[in-house]
Amino acid sequence: MELQAAIKERKSIRGFLDKPVPKEVLNEILEISVRAPSTKNAQPWHFYVVADEPLEQLKKANVNRLISPEAPPGEMAHILIEPEKGTVYRDRQVDIGIRLFKLMEIGREDKDKRLEWVKRGFRYFDAPAAIILVGDKSLPVEGAYLDAGLVIQNICLAAVDFGLGTCIENQGITYSDVLRDIVQIPDDKRLLAAIAIGYPDDDFPANKVISHREKVEDVVTWCGI
Ligand SMILES: Cc1cc2nc3c(=O)[nH]c(=O)nc-3n(C[C@H](O)[C@H](O)[C@H](O)COP(=O)(O)O)c2cc1C
Repeated sequence: MELQAAIKERKSIRGFLDKPVPKEVLNEILEISVRAPSTKNAQPWHFYVVADEPLEQLKKANVNRLISPEAPPGEMAHILIEPEKGTVYRDRQVDIGIRLFKLMEIGREDKDKRLEWVKRGFRYFDAPAAIILVGDKSLPVEGAYLDAGLVIQNICLAAVDFGLGTCIENQGITYSDVLRDIVQIPDDKRLLAAIAIGYPDDDFPANKVISHREKVEDVVTWCGI
């Protein structure tokens, strides 16, 4: 597939077929993706690819933690964008939420359906595999996060080429103690992102979402050209 087409086709997928992704395919996606550039070629990433029994365990443990009264904030909560009310960033967050809830027929006041949707996120959208991206805590989080973004985008684009869908997820790394325990991630590694990955369920309503983008003319300043 042409690169431009893959970039245009990629979108977050939140419903997957009950069909495992072969290990060879996941491995090939990672082989391609680690060609991503990184600061000083540090390649500050490590991938935990989780499927099958450990993933089922993780999905259950995440949801149990979500509904437990003492669910703590995520380890990375302090660096996440939490847009303030009245900002354009908040407006965009609300917009994608409205689009998803409309497709999923989740009413504003429907607490049960809303909770079910949030649980789904903590279950890696029921994907057959999840990639947990970690970095080394000895490196500054800002740089690691930028480099991680590059390799993550490669993963999402390469996945499209294999007929797979992805959803990058903060939800998937929120309950760090649960994740560290089940996947055996050591304390000196920083959890950077989760990517749910699998074959898209084309009939799943939320997969039809097309997120809005601002016009380039509104987000560019030309200088000397
Ligand atoms: C760092 C990062 C974290 C994200 N975390 C979540 C998440 O926890 N749950 C979710 O449903 N989507 C998550 N997303 C997906 C975004 O909502 C999505 O990329 C955005 O709305 C644009 O839509 P698109 O990916 O379909 O183009 C995340 C995306 C990024 C880049």
